[in-house]
Amino acid sequence: MARLKVAVLISGRGSNLQALIDACAQRDFPAEIRLVLSNRGDAQGLQRAAQAGVATQVIPHRDYATRDAFDAALDAALQGAGIELVCLAGFMRLLGEAFVERWRDRLVNIHPSLLPEFRGLDTHARALKAGVRFTGCTVHYVRAAVDDGPIIVQKKVPVLPGDDEATLAARVLAVEHRLLPAAVGWHCSGRLVIAAGHVRVDFPMDRPDDALTVPYVGTSAAP
Ligand code: GRF
Repeated sequence: MARLKVAVLISGRGSNLQALIDACAQRDFPAEIRLVLSNRGDAQGLQRAAQAGVATQVIPHRDYATRDAFDAALDAALQGAGIELVCLAGFMRLLGEAFVERWRDRLVNIHPSLLPEFRGLDTHARALKAGVRFTGCTVHYVRAAVDDGPIIVQKKVPVLPGDDEATLAARVLAVEHRLLPAAVGWHCSGRLVIAAGHVRVDFPMDRPDDALTVPYVGTSAAP
């Protein structure tokens, strides 16, 4: 089976990267991680990649005078590795419009809220402050605006009495670990069609939870 060549961009812990590494270890998963790129040499996710035998590269943003120059270095590394899909998984740098356009519909991001609610940072603190009963997470194709772009899949997570940022983040993260491999698997098996700014998933989803009962969604991290 041909597997799509995926790069994962990280800046830190890399638990979503780990979920992708684990998914790629399944024989029928339609993707392989060819490269893990980080803007930080101390990102814990780099060790996860090394342990899994995945190539890593550090491109420190501070080495570049402009965002465009940094983006160009990222792009060169991705092109050099023959990458077909780029996943942002806790990558804490904003990417410029030229890069985003170059990778249009081949660039996905995971965000810990139900977009378009709570774009940007500190999503869980803001959800708690707003008093919402539910938050969640979203995987979407990336457009130039922050945390913007056609939504591939999202799942709701309850905010429980007594939650603080840490407990809520942990509950959402467990769901992220299922959502990101699902979205990547669907993209890589050609099941996603983008039309008029919306994503159509090419199989029946009658109920929101059906998105998580289809192949490629691990169950080990079930909340
Ligand atoms: C996740 O919550 C992700 O949604 C956000 O940054 C966090 C990264 O966590 N964009 P990890 O590095 O994957 O553990």
